[in-house]
Amino acid sequence: MAELLELDAEVLKPYLTELTDWIANLADSVPARIMDVGSGPGTGSLALADRFPAASVTAADISPQMLHRLQKQAATHGVAGRIRTLEANLDEPWPLSGEGEPYDLMWAAAFLHHLSDPARTLAQAYGQLRPGGLLAVSEMDFFPRFLPEDAGVGRPGLEARLHTVTNTEPPREWDRTLMDAGFTVDARRPFEIRLTASHAGPALGRYAQVCLTKLRSHADDAMEADDLAALDALLDETHPLGIVRRGDLSVRTTRTTWIARRP
Ligand SMILES: C[S@@+](CC[C@H](N)C(=O)[O-])C[C@H]1O[C@@H](n2cnc3c(N)ncnc32)[C@H](O)[C@@H]1O
Repeated sequence: MAELLELDAEVLKPYLTELTDWIANLADSVPARIMDVGSGPGTGSLALADRFPAASVTAADISPQMLHRLQKQAATHGVAGRIRTLEANLDEPWPLSGEGEPYDLMWAAAFLHHLSDPARTLAQAYGQLRPGGLLAVSEMDFFPRFLPEDAGVGRPGLEARLHTVTNTEPPREWDRTLMDAGFTVDARRPFEIRLTASHAGPALGRYAQVCLTKLRSHADDAMEADDLAALDALLDETHPLGIVRRGDLSVRTTRTTWIARRP
């Protein structure tokens, strides 16, 4: 998962730049104190440290392994001095109250759906933000797609069928839960991400391989045998039409971001 998230950050950099620019335009001042909740290996922390070069960022996650990777990434990017990590179960009362000033900006990406009680966590986020401060909630509407309709292996439409059997939950809306926690919802924006191979860069093949391997691991009992065999051929790094060797990959996905403000 950590590798997938790091590749996600690398390949989808143009989207992250657009998103952080949008947040900068909506903020009432330049954020100085930022918190990334459910930070994982630091996609959001690094993008925000980059976009707001004077800000300090607290990255909180339940996983020490994720936070360890984040620290390494922060050092590589030269921002280790501005990012502190906090190991915490954000499903429980936050161990943060009373420390320092409230936050100007919080970021929760691909995180809320992991919680047993997102409403309780959002109420705690609200309590840690200053009045006027923003919470950006981002969720992936569906896993990225990479292959052409006919991948040259198996029947056309293979990737679409894989998504149909593995994406069983519709994307969730967060407006109501945010408002119940006390926020106003200033904006909700779907980002349509369409990157060709040249825009996505050299990590695209590996990113596609890791994403499709993850989906394949959920497909065993859900797809026809010929589809599973075709997928395995595509994931075989020695196959001439294998994903890591192809020049015809692109990234197609949609992520939705809500901008909530503490009044
Ligand atoms: C899908 S990852 C998203 C990571 C990152 N926000 C990103 O966009 O790349 C979800 C993260 O939430 C963390 N997480 C899940 N439940 C948590 C909890 N109760 N408290 C804190 N972090 C949690 C996981 O460890 C994981 O790093």
